[in-house]
Amino acid sequence: MIPSILSADFGAFRSQVVELLDAGARAFHVDVMDGHFVPVITFGPRVVSSFADLVHERGGTIDVHLMIEQPERQLSEFARAGADSCTVHVETCPHLHYTLGLIHELGMTAGATLNPATPTAALREAAREADVLLCMSVNPGWGGQKFIEASIDRLGELRALLRPGMGLEVDGGIAPATIARCHTAGANLMVAGSAIYDQPSPGEAWQGLSALVAGA
Ligand code: DX5
Ligand code: ZN
Repeated sequence: MIPSILSADFGAFRSQVVELLDAGARAFHVDVMDGHFVPVITFGPRVVSSFADLVHERGGTIDVHLMIEQPERQLSEFARAGADSCTVHVETCPHLHYTLGLIHELGMTAGATLNPATPTAALREAAREADVLLCMSVNPGWGGQKFIEASIDRLGELRALLRPGMGLEVDGGIAPATIARCHTAGANLMVAGSAIYDQPSPGEAWQGLSALVAGA
């Protein structure tokens, strides 16, 4: 169960990270958006470095989701800032094999993802190189959107591409009503933003969602 800091209260950002670590969270998802690939602008490597110390001292990891054009130009900055994994979109990477290799060379775990309208077969070759495939279950760009039901079928299709030991992540609209079905469909890394941060206690919300998927 991976909190997405996109929905965090940035006035209380570090204390919310500590609350989630205390609740048991050990991975955090950072949504990087550039105003080009998606309309929204969010944050860059300095936000990663602003809480990497807290996460790493508890044995946790930072999972960066790059919704930006030419992500290969930014990878070394995110690695230096403390990112443990970077996930890139097939739509932004004409040389996806090269980009995934670069993520590995920088010492990070490599993820590959795709938009809801991109056929899952677009990740077939990337699955030979990536450590994680990420199924976007909303259109990238905003938190709090409705889960796209076709994502359940798409998770099954992506699951069929996995090599042993690979992760299958799902991101968007993950909430009590959707999380168990995604888990059953094969996802073992669940990202949630609003279902955690928009609740009175993010830590308790994290524990409630985690209990529905036995720690995924
Ligand atoms: C959407 C982002 C998600 C976002 C999910 O572009 O990739 O990580 O934080 O938000 P929720 O969980 O609210 O759908
Ligand atoms: Zn994301």
